[in-house]
Order: sequence, then structure tokens, then C-alpha cells
Amino acid sequence: MEILRHIVVFIHLIGFAVLFGSWVVEAVAHRIRVTKLMTWGMVIAAVAGLALAAPWGIEYDLNYTKLGVKFAVLLVIGALLGIGSARQRKTGSLPPAIFWSIGALTLLNAGLAVIWR
Ligand code: HEM
Repeated sequence: MEILRHIVVFIHLIGFAVLFGSWVVEAVAHRIRVTKLMTWGMVIAAVAGLALAAPWGIEYDLNYTKLGVKFAVLLVIGALLGIGSARQRKTGSLPPAIFWSIGALTLLNAGLAVIWR
């Protein structure tokens, strides 16, 4: 069980890497846009994160306040990705506030994961 949990954490981290990595690629290239890869990363992190939010394979208590906050942040990231890709499709451009918020909120969730114990 413990090993399985570690594998799910690994998958969760892959989702984070895909979401944040694909966002950084666009940011560094000065392309203010959302990509399908960002959504895929978010979906992977979300599915694995929800599996980890249940108390299995551990001997300590989970911090449910932290998990609730992470889940709320995830919903906002998902909404921004959804609204952003629809806007992008319709108008051909993405409001910079949406783009920067996606990166900042992704980092916020990673920061919450490692700093808030
Ligand atoms: C984009 C959204 C998310 C990002 C970027 C993210 C990022 C991370 C990172 C970097 C870790 C590793 C921290 C460590 O090993 O100490 C982690 C762990 C974890 N995340 Fe997330 N996370 C996200 C969403 C979620 C959601 C929605 C949940 C559940 C509600 C969740 C539940 C967890 C749990 C339970 C762990 C700890 C794993 C363990 O040690 O057993 N995450 N997350």
C-alpha cells in the first residue's frame, strides 16, 4: 500500500511537471497562451491528488484544511484553463492576467504542498 501511494505521488508530480513545465515553455518564449498540455498536466495532477486525499498507505493524519485549499486552487486553475482556451479560440488571444494567474496558482499549490505540513 505504501509503495502504491508513493507511485501515485510520483504520478501527481508528473502532472505538476507537465502543467508547470508547459506553462514555463510558453512564458519564456513570450507566448501568452494556454496549451492542451497544460490541461493534461492539470488533469493528471487532479486525479492523482484526489486519490492521495484519502487516508490510505500512511500512518499519519492528513491535513484536510490544506487539501481543501489545494482543491479550491485547482478548481480555479481548471476554470482559468477552460475560460482561457475558449477566449483564445474565439478571439485569437488570451488576457495576460489569465496566463500569469495559471502559473502563479500552480506554484502556489506546489508551495502549499511542501511548506504547509
Ligand atoms: C495543480 C494542482 C496541484 C499541484 C501543482 C500540486 C503539487 C504537489 C506537489 C509538488 C506535491 C509533493 C509534495 C511533497 O512530496 O511533499 C504534492 C503532494 C500532495 N498533493 Fe498535490 N498538487 C496539486 C493538487 C492537489 C489536489 C487537488 C490534491 C487533493 C485535494 C492534492 C493532494 C496532495 C497530497 C495528499 C500530497 C501529499 C502526498 C503524500 O505525501 O502522501 N494535490 N502536490
